[in-house]
Amino acid sequence: MTKRVLEMTVNGEERSLAVASYRSLLDVLREEGGLTGTKKGCDVGDCGACTVIMDGKPVNACLVLAVEAQGAEITTVEGLQSSPDDLHPLQEAMMEHGASQCGFCTPGILIMAKCLLDRNPHPTDEEIRFGLSGNICRCTGYTKIFDAIRTAGK
Ligand code: FES
Ligand code: FES
Repeated sequence: MTKRVLEMTVNGEERSLAVASYRSLLDVLREEGGLTGTKKGCDVGDCGACTVIMDGKPVNACLVLAVEAQGAEITTVEGLQSSPDDLHPLQEAMMEHGASQCGFCTPGILIMAKCLLDRNPHPTDEEIRFGLSGNICRCTGYTKIFDAIRTAGK
C-alpha cells in the first residue's frame, strides 16, 4: 500500500505522518499520532465523540480523510491544556459539576463547547443545546454538561 506523507500542525506541533489515502483523520490521529483522547464512537458521523478543531472549525474526524488535513491546523482534546497541570476552564467546570460519567463523549463535548464559547462566551440555554446537538451522551442526561458550559462561559 502506497503511503503519502502528510504535514499538519497538531496541538501546535508540526507533525509528519505517513498515511494511506483511504484512512480517516480520526484513525490517523489516534494510531499514527498517538492521540487517543479523541474517541471513535460510531465512525459514521452520528455521535460527535471524534470532534476535533480543523482550521478553526469543529469537524467529525471520522468523516474527514486524513489527506484532506494536509497543511491543516488541528486541535484535539489533548491540546486544550497548556500544561499537564493546567486544565482548561471547561475541563475544570466539567469536573466541578460531575458532568462526565463513562467519559466517552467528553473529549468531543469539550471540543464542541470550546468552539461554542470561543464565538459566543455567554450562550443561552437554547444556544448550548443547539451547539451540542451533534454530540451524544448516553450517561448524563446532559443537564450537568450544560451547567458546566454555563459555568465556563461566565
Ligand atoms: Fe465520528 Fe461518531 S465517531 S461522529
Ligand atoms: Fe458516558 Fe457521556 S458520559 S456517554
